Amino acid sequence: MIASTWSFAERCNEAAWPALAAGGDPMDAVVEACRVAEEDPSIDSVGFGGLPDADGAVTVDACVMRSPASCGGVCAMRRHLHAARVARLVMERTSHHLIAGDAADRFAERHGVEARELVAPAAREAWERWRAGGGDGEASRQVRDRALRPEDRGPGSGGALFGAHAAGESRWRHHDTIGTIAIGSDGRMAGACSTSGVPYKLPGRVGDSPIVGHGLYVDPAAGAATATGTGELISSACGAFLAVECMRRGASPLEAAHEAVARIAAVRAIEPHHQAVIVAVAPDGRVAAAALRQGFLLAVRTPAGARLEPPGATVRDD
Ligand code: GLY
Repeated sequence: MIASTWSFAERCNEAAWPALAAGGDPMDAVVEACRVAEEDPSIDSVGFGGLPDADGAVTVDACVMRSPASCGGVCAMRRHLHAARVARLVMERTSHHLIAGDAADRFAERHGVEARELVAPAAREAWERWRAGGGDGEASRQVRDRALRPEDRGPGSGGALFGAHAAGESRWRHHDTIGTIAIGSDGRMAGACSTSGVPYKLPGRVGDSPIVGHGLYVDPAAGAATATGTGELISSACGAFLAVECMRRGASPLEAAHEAVARIAAVRAIEPHHQAVIVAVAPDGRVAAAALRQGFLLAVRTPAGARLEPPGATVRDD
C-alpha cells in the first residue's frame, strides 16, 4: 500500500504503484511519489511550482526514512528540485541525518544530481504580486487570510493558486506538503516528506518536513506517520514521532493520529489559517488521518484500488 497527503497525490501514488505492487522497494515508491509532486508546477508548495520565500527564491526541504537507524534529509536547497532523492542520498551515502542550504546543493551536485531552476513562471508572478502588495508583514498575513475566503474553502473550489482541488478538499493554501508512506509486499515500510515550505517565508525558515520525528517518522516495529500543514505547529509536538509512539503503546492509527493533532492544537494558539494533519500507518497496513479541521483528503492505493478519504477525526469544527 501507499498513502500520501492531499488529492494531488493520487497521481503520485499511481506513478509509484506498478513497481511497488510488483514487489519493489517501498523507498523507491515514496521517492517516486515525491518526484511526481516535485515536478508538478500546479502544486504550489512542493518543488517546481512552490511559492518563493520573501526574497523570491524557492527553497526545498525533504526527508526519507526506513527506520530510526536509516533516515536522511536536506533543507533549504535552492538548486535541486528532487529533494526526496537527495535526502535518500544523505541516508544511503553519509552518516548524517540532515544537510542544509548551499552545502546540500553542493552535496547533490557531488552525487550527480543535476541542478535546475526551481522557480516556476507562475510562482514568480505570484511573488511579484505579493511584493507589489507590500511584501512582508501585514500584506503577508493578508495573503494567508485570503485562503480563508468562503469561495476558497468550498468543495472542489480550492483556493488553489494554479490548480484545481478535489471535491471535499478545501485548500489551506500553502500547506500542501507531500507526506507519503508505503509498505511493500514483503512488509518493509518507508516514508518520505517533501515541501517548499510556507510561501513568502523569511529566508532560511525551515519547517517540519525535513526533520525526522516532525514531518515523518518510521519505525517498522511500531508504525509510521507523516504530517502536512503549518510546520511550526507540527514541530511543536514532534507530530510524526508522537503518533508512532502512540501506536507503539497500542493505539490504532486513528487514535494515534488524533492524539498527535490534539496535542498540536493544545500547545499552540490556533489561527484561522492553520491546518495540521497527521497520517498514521500501522505495520499491518491500517491507515488513518486526523486533522485540525476538515478540508483534507488522503490518497490511498492498495491492491483493491485507489481511494480518497477525509480525515477520520478532526479536533476543531471551524
Ligand atoms: N509542512 C511544511 C512546512 O511547514 O514547511
